[in-house]
Amino acid sequence: MRTAMLRSMLSRRSSRGFSSSAAPERKVVVLGAAGGIGQPLSLLMKLNPLVSTLSLYDIVGTPGVAADVSHINTRSKVTGYAGEDQLGKALEGCDVVIIPAGVPRKPGMTRDDLFNINAGIVKSLSTAIAKYCPHAIVNMISNPVNSTVPIAAEVFKKAGTYDEKKLFGVTTLDVVRAKTFYAGKANVNVAEVNVPVVGGHAGITILPLFSQATPTANFSAEDIKALTKRTQDGGTEVVEAKAGKGSATLSMAYAGALFADACLKGLNGVPDVVECSFVQSTVTELPFFASKVRLGKNGVEEVFGLGSLSDFEKEGLEALKPELKSSIEKGIKFANAN
Ligand code: NAI
Repeated sequence: MRTAMLRSMLSRRSSRGFSSSAAPERKVVVLGAAGGIGQPLSLLMKLNPLVSTLSLYDIVGTPGVAADVSHINTRSKVTGYAGEDQLGKALEGCDVVIIPAGVPRKPGMTRDDLFNINAGIVKSLSTAIAKYCPHAIVNMISNPVNSTVPIAAEVFKKAGTYDEKKLFGVTTLDVVRAKTFYAGKANVNVAEVNVPVVGGHAGITILPLFSQATPTANFSAEDIKALTKRTQDGGTEVVEAKAGKGSATLSMAYAGALFADACLKGLNGVPDVVECSFVQSTVTELPFFASKVRLGKNGVEEVFGLGSLSDFEKEGLEALKPELKSSIEKGIKFANAN
């Protein structure tokens, strides 16, 4: 009797002990980890209990960032890698690759102005991903996302490793902004607010669907127009406020960490993980499009349609298509020409 009780207590203890450390081993790498986004993003990923190995890669500066972050007493083991000859090691065995590598905007620049530098960086990093961790989920932060995601897709296709379910353009910051601005205007608790943001990640291609926002608010057409514009120009607001010292880094690190966490939860089998992301899509006639997606063990498990749109949103959707189409084509052309 006593033995049976003891056995049951022990098994309960061990099952409790097991469940607290049961999160599977997951290796996450940040490419561009020493940058404005990379550093706070590395910090936030170090705080994520779903990460067991955190690999920090940049062309320079990563040993310092890694030494610093590694002293934090959380689960993951941190290693810094600097320079191209260490890129393979940084990527090997990765489950999730987060890419904030590349130059940010200065006042007066569009995201497309970054194309010439960032396209090449993304292409070379994608080539390495195809070689060293072809099955990893890729979270693309580097701008212009509307072109860098198609570039990565083309590189993966050429390498024979493309899995459309595993390539994501990170548009979470647009959602974060839309929620914040909506909650501020409606004077509701931001934690309860949901706003889908669809399209792409640049200017008018960012289309927040405030008609589907919850909780509902009684906004005038003018209010909706102003909220939409502020969401679309949110990045520029930060670029101008930083006056030449870069673009959004802290809010982007938060958004990037949120999206990576959603990907990890999906991989670990948590049900109903839904986020907006720029993915291969049949929602419109464009080959890539941001909309709500359900994340799971294979990456994208389901791409949701747009739902019902207001007339204002329908106009916005038609207006964004030519720009988004040309940015996608520009990326595809670059990947295949060089
Ligand atoms: P940053 O200049 O502060 O940092 C970029 C880092 O990338 C630097 O540490 C640099 O050494 C590194 N890097 C450059 N070439 C590399 C390579 N080949 N491999 C690895 N690392 C490399 O720039 P910041 O502010 O961190 O922005 C990074 C990117 O994120 C920019 O393209 C920016 O436009 C984009 N961004 C995207 C947002 C989004 O919502 N998706 C929001 C804000 C920025």
